[in-house]
Amino acid sequence: MNDSAKKIIFTVLVGLPTLLVVWIFALYFFSCGADNSCSNNQTPALTPIPTLIAATMPAPKVGAEAAAAAPKCRIAALNLIGAWVSAGYSETEPFSFTDVKNTNCTATFKDDVQALFVTPNLWFDGAPACTTCHHADLAKSQKNMDLSSYAGILAGSNRVGGKPKGDDILGAGNWNEALLHKMLYAPNGKTEIGRPAMPFGRPASVPAEGPVISAGAPANAEAVETPKP
Ligand code: HEC
Repeated sequence: MNDSAKKIIFTVLVGLPTLLVVWIFALYFFSCGADNSCSNNQTPALTPIPTLIAATMPAPKVGAEAAAAAPKCRIAALNLIGAWVSAGYSETEPFSFTDVKNTNCTATFKDDVQALFVTPNLWFDGAPACTTCHHADLAKSQKNMDLSSYAGILAGSNRVGGKPKGDDILGAGNWNEALLHKMLYAPNGKTEIGRPAMPFGRPASVPAEGPVISAGAPANAEAVETPKP
């Protein structure tokens, strides 16, 4: 081996590692500085990555969540009860009604009508529920009438001695003749039969047909979900 060959080998063996060390130090000082800022959890400036554009469609809702999100119809309380009675007052079968916006809607006793009898503060602010006075304890209940259940409403009033069948309050399906209608329809807080308007203590400010409430759902909402053959 001659001298120049030795020189080249020496340069490569010593020079390269030296260059490497210098390079690493340079990197360290230029990027982090002598204060060792790299270890201080600094977020390095990153190349901005375009964010995905948010999808505008809301995630489809299912089950109970969908039912809760479904649009409700609006109707005066008395008209809802009237539609139910006129349709034959089934406990579970849906009945149709036209809401305040002229939408064709359906509701059921269980989901929509029963609440009008058992919910306080519904007919007016501070109103007791019908069932506060007309409850299942027939002996103590006003007019011996139980409005707390479907069976109780159908059994009617004046069930003296707890008899199973009293006086029909649903007019046998003729809403205009129904005692329930006559006790609840109260322009300026007064019934047209000279008896106290229900709920008892009802102020004149309550509309004749009671408050407008949310009930049922548009009839065509179900049609949309029904798969076409
Ligand atoms: C604070 C107690 C009270 C509440 C609440 C109440 N009622 Fe009455 N209800 C009475 C009293 C008292 C009578 C008897 C009224 C009379 O003297 O004519 C009566 C009578 C009735 C009658 C007539 C029964 C008959 O055969 O003569 C019906 C129907 C009726 N209530 C329905 C309702 C409905 C529906 C509600 C709820 C929207 C309601 N009541 C809320 C006390 C109450």
